[in-house]
Amino acid sequence: MITDRFKWGPMGWILVLAVVVGAWPALVLGQVGESVGEGMVRYHASASARDGALPSLCLVAPLDSLGPVPEEWAVVPEFTRIQGRTSVFLTIDEGTDLYGTGEVPGPLRRNGTRTVAWNFDAYGWGAGAPNLYQSHPWVLAVRADGTSYGVIADTPNRCLIDLQLGIRFEADGQEFPVIIIEGATPQDVVRSLGQLTGTMPLPPRWALGYHQCRYSYTPDDRVREIADGFREREIPCDVIWYDIDYMDENRCFSIDTWSFPDMRGLNAELHEKGFHTVAIIDPGIKQEYGYHVYDSGDAIDAWVQNRSGSPYVGSVWPGRCVFPDFTMGQVREWWGGLYGQFLSLGIDGIWNDMNEPAVFNVDAKTMPRSNRHRADPELGGPGTHARFHNVYGMLMARATWEGVQRVRPNQRPFVLSRANHLGGQRWAACWTGDNSASWAHVDYSVSMVLNLGLSGQPMSGPDIGGFVGVGTGEMFARWMGIGALQPFARGHTGKGNIDKEPWAFGSDVEKTCQVALQRRYRLLPYLYSLMREAAETGLPPVRPLFFLDPADPALRAEDDSFLLGDDLLVACNTWPGEKPVPVLPAGNWVKVSLVDGDLDDPDLPDLYLREGAILPLGPIMQWSDEKPLDELELLVNPGPDGRAVGYLYEDDGDGYGYREGAYRVTEFVVSGPGESVQVKVMEGDWEPGVWLVVPRDISK
Ligand code: GLC
Repeated sequence: MITDRFKWGPMGWILVLAVVVGAWPALVLGQVGESVGEGMVRYHASASARDGALPSLCLVAPLDSLGPVPEEWAVVPEFTRIQGRTSVFLTIDEGTDLYGTGEVPGPLRRNGTRTVAWNFDAYGWGAGAPNLYQSHPWVLAVRADGTSYGVIADTPNRCLIDLQLGIRFEADGQEFPVIIIEGATPQDVVRSLGQLTGTMPLPPRWALGYHQCRYSYTPDDRVREIADGFREREIPCDVIWYDIDYMDENRCFSIDTWSFPDMRGLNAELHEKGFHTVAIIDPGIKQEYGYHVYDSGDAIDAWVQNRSGSPYVGSVWPGRCVFPDFTMGQVREWWGGLYGQFLSLGIDGIWNDMNEPAVFNVDAKTMPRSNRHRADPELGGPGTHARFHNVYGMLMARATWEGVQRVRPNQRPFVLSRANHLGGQRWAACWTGDNSASWAHVDYSVSMVLNLGLSGQPMSGPDIGGFVGVGTGEMFARWMGIGALQPFARGHTGKGNIDKEPWAFGSDVEKTCQVALQRRYRLLPYLYSLMREAAETGLPPVRPLFFLDPADPALRAEDDSFLLGDDLLVACNTWPGEKPVPVLPAGNWVKVSLVDGDLDDPDLPDLYLREGAILPLGPIMQWSDEKPLDELELLVNPGPDGRAVGYLYEDDGDGYGYREGAYRVTEFVVSGPGESVQVKVMEGDWEPGVWLVVPRDISK
């Protein structure tokens, strides 16, 4: 494990001595800084490090130097180089709290933790896991006064993020720069992160519905049974997922025609019933002549190579596999092209899995770091797997996203990826991998989605119900209650496990799940508006409570509750037993009911509406496009001055008409005590009709 390397051994003391007597002065480097944007500074270890820097793999575009570091600039790193690794240290002031670091288990507040950015197939991961499937070398810091800054370690290499004594990044490979972003608030810093590393494009609205998965629904009749199960029981659901058993012996882009004799017909039936489908595609390609993906990839010499220049072979689901080298544009193009025929079967979205990449037959669980990638010049040219490992999944997701977009230029792609890297939200949403059915995992799911959101990824969620292990009905109900209010809501479980559909644990749990999902569907107009905000600004839909008052120390570590947008507080109960008394920020937060019976259910999180807010609610639906949004219920919680405000974003739900103005942003305002709601179109020229607005003053 990387952590063992940092213990003081005799060599360590010799190094210290060497530095003290000045025998190794090159260890401490003289950093050079430059302004790269408003409130953004980049530091390199030295002038020569700056001149020889490789291109960034996480930024949207290279950053030009805009001049010297501003005079009043406060956050200055110190670089040292030891044994082929660069270490960058930033002291933190008393009262500074740290967040981000991507997909990490444990508390929201990250002070005192050590995380390793190294994408890893972490089946059944637990609390102590130093690295999971994704890598985000990024820390968000909030000072005692609520002002904030963030630090990107701009390296794709394996990187330790040590937050025990301050902020320290230590990475293998070439010297790397850090980019520091200053902001008046943490929200400002997260928005700047979105500006630098990109934002998630607006997903199709159906992707915000509930998703049902398992490893695997097979054969076709089982898929029908699951889909009908939702409709007969009136439990809302938008998407049914195909895990690897739909494939012909795990060959990607193939169909097991014994179990799925008419995949196209099956998908048409599902569409008819209001469902969309998502199918899994892994990177490991079976090494087999006569298999069209292998043959066509081989014809363009597409595979990652071992150190001696032959295709690297590792074992994954189909047996001996080769792996596309997604660092080459030509390979991404070929890979994207494979989706044409595949999507013509009526598949709507793509799930990229095992793309750390996972390899079964080796201790490291991935390919050797000495493997060779023939990367394009824009990625810095050829390099070892040590440089490209952490971005392998991101580049696969990019190839998928771009391929799907080419096949269907008038629709918005939906891609889910297990592995990813800082900036990868541009191409894929995220789920938190092979979690377990335990209360601890219910608890982690809240802080993980929060920290992913603070690391640039707005759309994430856990396997609701747990991938590994059985759990209990109470746990399942509780998990569905919370998961139904997170951006990506999907139930999933492992092969051979018990059933984990919403009805699998008996009628009481089924009822809770139905109400939980009805709540989600009533909130869809709001959630979709928040996704639009995420796509525009990088601000995630799920937000920590400290966003409300970043200077309030009482909110800094709160991760039993989260905010959906700025207006709705979700108070979760992630452990067995009665609901704890929630931490409520200042102001008159009023408990709200969205669906009959939700307030009385002990397994559903309580919801509170912010004082001064108006929350738009749509109808209960069985899928996201079942009904037009022609009636809006507005929950109004006037402030002390009687005022309240809310917003709504609407468009077609798919396609790109919104880029040409086919959307509408509406503001709802109650301007004082006893005043009625004023409806004002703020932006866009989309005119699908007007809604009947039904206000409900919940303060009374
Ligand atoms: C991996 C994924 C899991 C999937 C399984 C089979 O373990 O994390 O979600 O079900 O592979 O494809």
